[in-house]
Amino acid sequence: MDKRAIGVFDSGVGGLTVLREIIEQMPFEDIIYFGDTARIPYGTKSSQTVIKYSQQNVRFLSQYDIKTIVVACNTASSIALKNLQESFDIPIIGVIDPGAKGAVQKTENNKIGVIGTTATVRSSAYQDRIREINPEISVIGTPCPLFVQIVEEGWEDSDVAELAAKKYLIELMDHEVDTLVLGCTHYPLLRYTLNKVLGNKVTLINPAYETAKALKEILTEKKMLRKSGETPVRRFFVSDAPEKFRRIGGNILNMEINNVDEVEIEKY
Ligand code: DGL
Repeated sequence: MDKRAIGVFDSGVGGLTVLREIIEQMPFEDIIYFGDTARIPYGTKSSQTVIKYSQQNVRFLSQYDIKTIVVACNTASSIALKNLQESFDIPIIGVIDPGAKGAVQKTENNKIGVIGTTATVRSSAYQDRIREINPEISVIGTPCPLFVQIVEEGWEDSDVAELAAKKYLIELMDHEVDTLVLGCTHYPLLRYTLNKVLGNKVTLINPAYETAKALKEILTEKKMLRKSGETPVRRFFVSDAPEKFRRIGGNILNMEINNVDEVEIEKY
């Protein structure tokens, strides 16, 4: 058993959809979460900037006693994961590989759609990984940048969300994908609207769930999970506006977030 905490970072509050799955599947683990709320969004930034930010986030988390880091942000996972794994000694996992594997397992007609931020879709990380696992699969990627704002406004089940989804997803529907990767931290919160627009023939893949599952498998295999029954300590850090994080984050996690501290991330 390894009592050290799991470090998780994201560009903001969205990564709590990943943390929610980690808590669900590994409820006894200590967690240190960093949300880069001062510098969100990552999805519109250049690769160079996303790599620089991600490196700072890992440096910040590494000062704590942690056994592994989860890059909850799809944009950072797409662009910076390899660089992070090469630059730091600590095991680091991202959301792309688990999400891609989950989609490949589910598709029956070998047509998969991927939605995410502009940077994630442009990086082709999901598309490449899916084709690497099975070259017969055709993958189509569509950036849906407005979805992040819609979710942060709390409008995920509204007419606005439905209209945006119809406009964004038309090409994917024409392409007749039977599986759709929700390649952005915020998108699992749009599940209801996406199901409504796409109908029940399209299976939605939540990389957050797949990543928590993969992490649990790794920690179990390495005998690094904490004993059941232990009381977990969960600490939260943000680079700006802790109050807003507490409010929106509490809704995503479905629990009260009390201990949020502000960090000057540029120092790292
Ligand atoms: N967390 C980001 C992602 O999953 C979405 C928000 C952003 O653009 O930073 O890609």
